[in-house]
This record gives sequence, structure tokens and C-alpha cells, in this order.
Amino acid sequence: MHKREFLRTLGGASLGVMFSPALLARYAAMPAQEVAEDEAFWAAIRGKYRLTPDYINLENGYYSMQSEPVLDAFVGHVRSINVQASRYMRTRQTDDKLRVRTRLAKLAGVSPEELIITRNTTESLDTVIAGYDWKPGDEAVMAFQDYGAMLDMFKLQARRHGVVNRVVSVPVDPRSDDEVVQTYANAITPKTRLLMVCHLVNITGHVLPVRAIADMAHSRGVDVMVDGAHAFAQMSFAIPDLGCDYYGASLHKWLGAPLGAGILYVKQDKIAKLWPIYADEGMAETDIRKLNHTGTHPVHTDLGIENAIDFHESIGIARKEARLRFLQQHWTKQVRGVPKIVLNTPADPKRTCAIANVGIEGMKPADLAKTLLDRYKVWTVAIDSTPANVHGVRVTPQLFTTPAELDVFAKALKEIAA
Ligand SMILES: Cc1ncc(COP(=O)(O)O)c(C=O)c1O
Repeated sequence: MHKREFLRTLGGASLGVMFSPALLARYAAMPAQEVAEDEAFWAAIRGKYRLTPDYINLENGYYSMQSEPVLDAFVGHVRSINVQASRYMRTRQTDDKLRVRTRLAKLAGVSPEELIITRNTTESLDTVIAGYDWKPGDEAVMAFQDYGAMLDMFKLQARRHGVVNRVVSVPVDPRSDDEVVQTYANAITPKTRLLMVCHLVNITGHVLPVRAIADMAHSRGVDVMVDGAHAFAQMSFAIPDLGCDYYGASLHKWLGAPLGAGILYVKQDKIAKLWPIYADEGMAETDIRKLNHTGTHPVHTDLGIENAIDFHESIGIARKEARLRFLQQHWTKQVRGVPKIVLNTPADPKRTCAIANVGIEGMKPADLAKTLLDRYKVWTVAIDSTPANVHGVRVTPQLFTTPAELDVFAKALKEIAA
């Protein structure tokens, strides 16, 4: 499908094609919070996904399926590049990637010169961690609730360069931002160089006060790297508002891009000091593309990102965020306070969005996940981490999830707990 054609019709997914002019005008005038609860609107969006009837998918956090229009466009890119082969690679690849980078930069609110397209959050953040000129005794701060791959990457720096890692534990349901900020502040010493913090903790759904943490760390001379795997394209923000130095995210989660797409943001004045993992002598020290020499890779994925942005923008981030928070609240409200049901997610809606985690006293998370699937056909993922203090199943609805599906899940939880 030609790009112009996709943009005109979004494969039948642009709101102009989905709704009558009268309905369209009504939605345009409606605040996002109200659209969030308008089931007719979301039923039309749900219609753009091909869902399995075999189970209710509440595990959309690992990666989220592409909508049908995005998938169709992506398959078109695969076919088209297969025909053009090296001619595409030699004549168009670079320009196309730069164009997609510019669109992503706009979405992130940063300059294109501060952004690269990567394969995923792991590659983005590990590029930063490995890019530091670590000296023995240098310190880094992170949390037990961070993602395992990055924690492992810091452990590798400890073994290789003698870096000292200070690991904090984020409270599950803090009374204030200050409580969280103080948790990180307590781990900083004069030797701390880098602090890693999750924008949204993947195992609990906790949205952390990143700006306040970054300001505190900067006042102590510490760089801040944010793991935005789950926040980007789920919540409305611009990266500069967070005040961080580095930001990594995956696009195959909440943007609904093809598998294997991510971004890395590096603040302009931090680029020069990072060592690339793969050398590229053709790039200046101050050009972020020096961190982006991947060799030959699936370029059709990069093209699919643009279609995913079109689909995402046709819905709008404000509506998306409001709907996802509404869905999470819809089921957590039904079970919070029920005997034996433990929510491992803050109660304050401002500290959450789509994701939440729930456990049942006396039941192993793996058994809970199995019972939910075998008996109720609800697909979740068990999280059982003693260091992170999280024991439950992670529940991640998506734009196509219905409140009725979440009612099935909430009822199942109550039955199991009883
Ligand atoms: C918080 C967090 N960081 C990083 C990652 C890694 O993402 P990816 O596998 O796309 O690199 C994940 C994946 O779920 C995550 O939840």
C-alpha cells in the first residue's frame, strides 16, 4: 500500500472512515475522559484488531499486537523491499529511516538529532550503560523493581569495571512523591555517576515521579537514565518534561509497531562522551547515529513504525491514556479491599495507567495464572519476585479490551479468593 493511500484511509481505521461526520464532530468536542467511557467509540477501534476467541488477552505488556491496518501495511513493506532488495538498501534506506526518526522525535517532543531507532528498550538502555567510561569504584543507582536485562547489564559493568551498584526498593503504594524521591536520594554518594529509574514499573504498573527524581539526582551531579518501555505511547508526555539525560523505549509495546522497534534519546550534550558498542568511524563523536551502527537489519520494521504512528495519532494519546487508566480502574475498583485479594499497585489513579498487579493470599502467582487460564480463559503473566516484593499476576489490558472482559476477570478473582 502506498503511504499516501494509507494516510488517506488508514486501511479503514481513520476516525473519518469509521464514524459519520456527525459522530466525528461529537467525539472531537468530547473531553478525553468522556470518550474513555464511550463503548461505541472503542468498539470501532476494537474492530481494527484480529483477536483470538480462545482466551481474553490481559497480557499485552510483553508486546502488543499490531492493528490490522498497520499489519497489512507492514506486510506490504516486507514484500516491496523483497522486490527492490539491494536497490532499496543502497538508494532509499537511509532517507526513509531519517524520515521515520523525525516523526518519532516529534512524538517524543525532542530534536531528531537526539534520537535513534533501535530494536527495543534493552538495546537502547544497554547502549548507554555499556557506553559509559566506567572507572573502578564508580557507582550506579537502580531499583529491585527495574527490568532484569538492565540490572544484569549493570552487574556486568560491576564484574568488568568494578562498578558498585546500589539497589533500592520502591514502595508499592507511596504516600507522596517525596517518599519515592527520598528512596533514591538515600542511595546516592559522591561516587554515583548514573541513576536508572523506570517511568512505569512493568511488574506493578507504578508510574514514578521521574521529574522530581531527575531534579534531585542532577542537584547531586548524577546523570539520569529513564526506562520508558511501558510509558511511551501509553501516556501523554514529552521527554524534555522529564528532565532526564537518556530515555529508552520499545515501540512494539504501546505504539503497536511491528516487533523489534525501539528508541533511544540522548540529550545533546551527553552524546559525545558515550562510547558506541559497534564502531562507526564515519560518524562524528557528537552525532547520535554513531550509536546506531547495526549492520544489515529488517528495515521494513522501521517503515512499519510510521504506519503505527498514523494509527496511534488517529486515536490520540489523550484518549488512549484516559481509556487505559479507565480500564485498569474498572477492574481494580471491584477487587480492592476484598478479603485475601492483594493489589500490588498504587491506589491513586495518578500513579498508574493501564497496568496493575494482583495476588491472592496463600496462592502462588503461577497457580493463580494457571487457574485463570484453565478455568476462566483469562491470559495473564505470573510475577513472583522476592527481591522486588511482588507476588501476583500482571494484568495489562489494551485498547481493544472491553469492560465486560474485565468483569469476567474480576469475578474470577473473587471466586478464587473465596
Ligand atoms: C520496564 C521494562 N524495561 C525494559 C523492557 C525490555 O523491553 P524489550 O524486550 O522490548 O527490550 C521491558 C519489557 O517488558 C520492560 O517491561
